[in-house]
Amino acid sequence: MAVDGKQQVVPKKTFIVELLKKLELGLVPYDEIKKLIRIELQRRLQWGYKSTHEEQIDQVMKLAHSLRHTNIATEVDTLDSQMYEVPIDFLKIMNGSTLKGSCCYFQHDSTTLDEAEIAMLDLYCERAQIKDGHSVLDLGCGQGALTLYVAQKYKNSRVTAVTNSVSQKEYIEEESRRRNLSNVEVLLADITTHKMADTYDRILVVGLFEHMKNYELLLRKISEWIAKDGLLFVEHICHKTFAYHYEPLDEDDWFTEYVFPAGTMIIPSASFFLYFQDDVSVVNHWTLSGKHFSRTNEEWLKRLDANVEVIKPMFVTLTGSEEEAMKLINYWRGFCLSGMVMFGYNKGEEWMASHVLFKKSY
Ligand SMILES: C[S@@+](CC[C@H](N)C(=O)[O-])C[C@H]1O[C@@H](n2cnc3c(N)ncnc32)[C@H](O)[C@@H]1O
Repeated sequence: MAVDGKQQVVPKKTFIVELLKKLELGLVPYDEIKKLIRIELQRRLQWGYKSTHEEQIDQVMKLAHSLRHTNIATEVDTLDSQMYEVPIDFLKIMNGSTLKGSCCYFQHDSTTLDEAEIAMLDLYCERAQIKDGHSVLDLGCGQGALTLYVAQKYKNSRVTAVTNSVSQKEYIEEESRRRNLSNVEVLLADITTHKMADTYDRILVVGLFEHMKNYELLLRKISEWIAKDGLLFVEHICHKTFAYHYEPLDEDDWFTEYVFPAGTMIIPSASFFLYFQDDVSVVNHWTLSGKHFSRTNEEWLKRLDANVEVIKPMFVTLTGSEEEAMKLINYWRGFCLSGMVMFGYNKGEEWMASHVLFKKSY
């Protein structure tokens, strides 16, 4: 694997090409896929855990230092076209009612996906200490679950959402009109190049940092948008101890690029952003068991599987053929299975969600 995050083009071995083909065609039973994913995760843990704490910290610091020499993000267009220009009607089936595209909070075994979406949105509001009347910026807003929730809950607040996805912007604007919310504005912008003169009392960032690279520059940029006495709340997925570019371990690794396109992701460690306090400083830090994101993915998969006959024609229209539509369905199945197994590994005590609250450093 390239330590510096530069992509290496490694020809795939025959067995990987064959496995990926079978997965694409839906020929591998779920139990078998889960078993194969666990093998790769086991290898990742063996790679990531070092035998001494000295080496462990050294690994994290090497990555943290190397990222200071990169662009804020790379492969932005690849990521957007493959992952975030998804038909809204499909997401309405797979996600819960707020269309939250990230970890939900299952407080009890009986908690439903819809309840878990709201519970997590409430947790963000509480941890970010949002008050009615605050100006709020939601960076990387997805389908606007948090933007719309905050705008509805805090009627005197103005919420600005930023996404680089045209379909997400259109959906949030349509939904704001439908709900008579006049306090929402959606900006279509690439956060890596976007410039803004305004400042905000609260900045919320859920699930975006993993797609970025130069956190020093990113946090410098975001810090300029934090109003006086304002706060920045970030949720990111992580491994609890080690951090890495989400790139294949070696030529036998079929899993790492199974879902996310090459070069588009970093898995930070839980405390990774504590090493980027040049322009912001940490006020609070929490982690949340991986069980919550595992269960989120499990619920998405159940909905997908229960509605294949409805989804198929949608995907035929999108891709132009039944064969391609089934491949896309199988891709999303793989997406959910990967999240289920990865975040569920070792009872949610390896990969998990991290919440960090920052204030601006002066
Ligand atoms: C994992 S999703 C999370 C969405 C949303 N925050 C949620 O929790 O449902 C990541 C979001 O970041 C957005 N994104 C990724 N790269 C971006 C960039 N360079 N500029 C703006 N938005 C970006 C994607 O379009 C998507 O909306």
